[in-house]
Amino acid sequence: MTGDPRRWASEPGVPGVVRYWGPYLYRSAFHATTEAEECERALAHLRDLVMVEGAATIAAIVLETVVGTNGILVPPDGYLAGVREICDQFGIVLIADEVMAGFARCGEWFAVDRWGVVPDLITFAKGVNSGYVPLGGVVISDAIAATFADRPFPGGLTYSGHPLACASAVGAINAMREEKVVENARRLGEEVFGPALRALAEKHPSVGEVRGLGAFWALELVKDRATREPLVPYNASGADAAPMAAFAAACKEGGVWPFTHFNRTHVVPPCTISDEDALAGIAVLDAALDVADGYCA
Ligand SMILES: Cc1ncc(COP(=O)(O)O)c(C=O)c1O
Repeated sequence: MTGDPRRWASEPGVPGVVRYWGPYLYRSAFHATTEAEECERALAHLRDLVMVEGAATIAAIVLETVVGTNGILVPPDGYLAGVREICDQFGIVLIADEVMAGFARCGEWFAVDRWGVVPDLITFAKGVNSGYVPLGGVVISDAIAATFADRPFPGGLTYSGHPLACASAVGAINAMREEKVVENARRLGEEVFGPALRALAEKHPSVGEVRGLGAFWALELVKDRATREPLVPYNASGADAAPMAAFAAACKEGGVWPFTHFNRTHVVPPCTISDEDALAGIAVLDAALDVADGYCA
């Protein structure tokens, strides 16, 4: 690819990336008040974007099925099907990034399965073999694979298709099947993380929202539940980030190494975690949230 991918695709002759807002009801870019409204308006926004950019200039729409590091954003029912419909209508390839969301994380082999949507390409990595050996890959639809039936695929890496890495994936996938890891992640979400994390939200004023599924959860921390003002400003550092730093320090003191990002803490343990360990970790979060509560208005 030539040119800077950060430039606007609409600059003539320059391939690039155009970003769009996805659904995120808690901080809706669309002034929506229900999941259904958020879904409808996020799809209208994407459709408008395709119109003004020009569908013929768009090769693919890329999304994380469930957005990971940027907040564990679970799409409302109907959103992914709506994106699929836009892609089909305008001849655009749909690429689902499941590097985080795939391989049991969301209680499905692929998160798209939860909504019965079939992308053209699925990217995957981490969970495919739990990282025992570095491996990433792309699931390719029959139609796209067929385009390479009589011409070479112009890509590759030194270690593409390395048998050792691929064997580790086969081993991990077989173990996941035998040990019912997908089912366990789904059960954890429904029976352990969902109820226990929602109970934390009831108790702690600093918890603005709990969201997630399977073994993929986030707590969004706020100064004020009514205004939803984040516990720390966007991209805060130094003294501005002190409340989240104090929360993280309290987690570590309790024996849990938290993942925090801006005003959120994520709960994304191994999909094989026992209920007992999960609840022990959540008890540490409970105590650390007392520290976060101290910063509430
Ligand atoms: C959702 C998501 N997509 C893509 C990537 C990048 O994956 P890779 O390094 O395998 O290209 C990451 C890495 O953290 C990720 O979390």
